[in-house]
Amino acid sequence: MRKVPVKLRGSDYTIFVEPGLISKVGAELRRLSDSKRVAIVTDSHVAPLHLAALEKSLNDADFQTVSATIPAGEQHKTLPMLMPVFDQFLSAKIERSTPILAFGGGVIGDMTGFLAATILRGVPFVQVPTTLLAMVDASIGGKTGVDHSLGKNLIGAFHQPIAVFSDPELLHTLPPRQFQDGLAECIKHALIRDAEGFARFDRQLEGILRREVKTLSEVIAHSAAIKAGVVQKDPFEKGDRAHLNFGHTFGHAIETVSHYSYSHGQAVALGMAAAAYTSAKLEMIDEKSRERILSTIQKAGLPVSGLSLDTDLVMQAMQHDKKVLAGRIRLILLKDIGRAVMRDDVPAALIRDAVESLR
Ligand SMILES: NC(=O)c1ccc[n+]([C@@H]2O[C@H](COP(=O)([O-])OP(=O)(O)OC[C@H]3O[C@@H](n4cnc5c(N)ncnc54)[C@H](O)[C@@H]3O)[C@@H](O)[C@H]2O)c1
Ligand SMILES: [Zn+2]
Repeated sequence: MRKVPVKLRGSDYTIFVEPGLISKVGAELRRLSDSKRVAIVTDSHVAPLHLAALEKSLNDADFQTVSATIPAGEQHKTLPMLMPVFDQFLSAKIERSTPILAFGGGVIGDMTGFLAATILRGVPFVQVPTTLLAMVDASIGGKTGVDHSLGKNLIGAFHQPIAVFSDPELLHTLPPRQFQDGLAECIKHALIRDAEGFARFDRQLEGILRREVKTLSEVIAHSAAIKAGVVQKDPFEKGDRAHLNFGHTFGHAIETVSHYSYSHGQAVALGMAAAAYTSAKLEMIDEKSRERILSTIQKAGLPVSGLSLDTDLVMQAMQHDKKVLAGRIRLILLKDIGRAVMRDDVPAALIRDAVESLR
């Protein structure tokens, strides 16, 4: 079993990664909780595929379970969709000590974390992520919340889990596009912090794409450790945590202007290509490094070109990004593979060129 420690003042926890871990979640959670019961929140895609296995594991460790299922999809990541779950768990008389488990992708993780942060003023929260993106990104860092009609994640709280249990075997049922979304974040993590990890990821890509659980375990543990390391140093996003936005300033603009016809991972892949272009033009990385970056992104099945959006609209959307300070677009760039820097002095003309380079 791979164990990644996360050290956050007052709330340390471990990310566990192992093929088949789902059958051991009950026993592992028993070490952390003497509660009679646990509550599970999952979604309508994950429930029929994997919920029985999780419940069995918990029952075997003498936990009674109460489960709530939310319709799958980002469009349901709202407060109204959470209200029936509050009703159900409060009617079931869950207690302050009852752990609540998020069993799904990032949508379920964010929603359940918010539920766990607020129900009875806060109960223990456990992440059992079922998408690659949730395993390497969304389940780590304690950001929880729901969307509002005025924007994504506008209602939320910081609430750290007491443990994260990632079982790469669950990824065998994940649709290809969602799997690729997770790969984009793995590439991002390596590019901002881990040159050796980037080279290894590239070498392992065939096995990763075949979803070999041993290789995936290694990739998930390394990628999760990078995110945990960044978050540990900057839990409330005052400084270096912004490096996690690598590829995302361009990416969010592409998602918005394309009306989400690109998935998040595809948009971030294009965004990373644009950021690599910008970094190369500023002579922070050489052309060879840029080519390596594009090649790995493409091998992972993600796009680096083919964008047919209006460049002006993309520029406008970037200006509206919440990361813009006093009209300057703030970009995360690379000064080397594995080393990110924040820059807010990139000329608008160069940013335009970077968007154009994605055609
Ligand atoms: N809290 C954070 O720090 C953080 C970071 C990144 C992203 N997020 C959030 O995460 C969300 C995106 O997460 P996501 O990409 O996991 O999306 P998701 O939760 O919508 O999952 C993607 C799809 O895969 C399905 N699914 C999940 N696991 C499956 C499995 N094992 N087999 C088959 N299907 C499965 C889901 O039902 C859904 O249809 C966004 O809402 C985003 O805001 C949060
Ligand atoms: Zn992302």
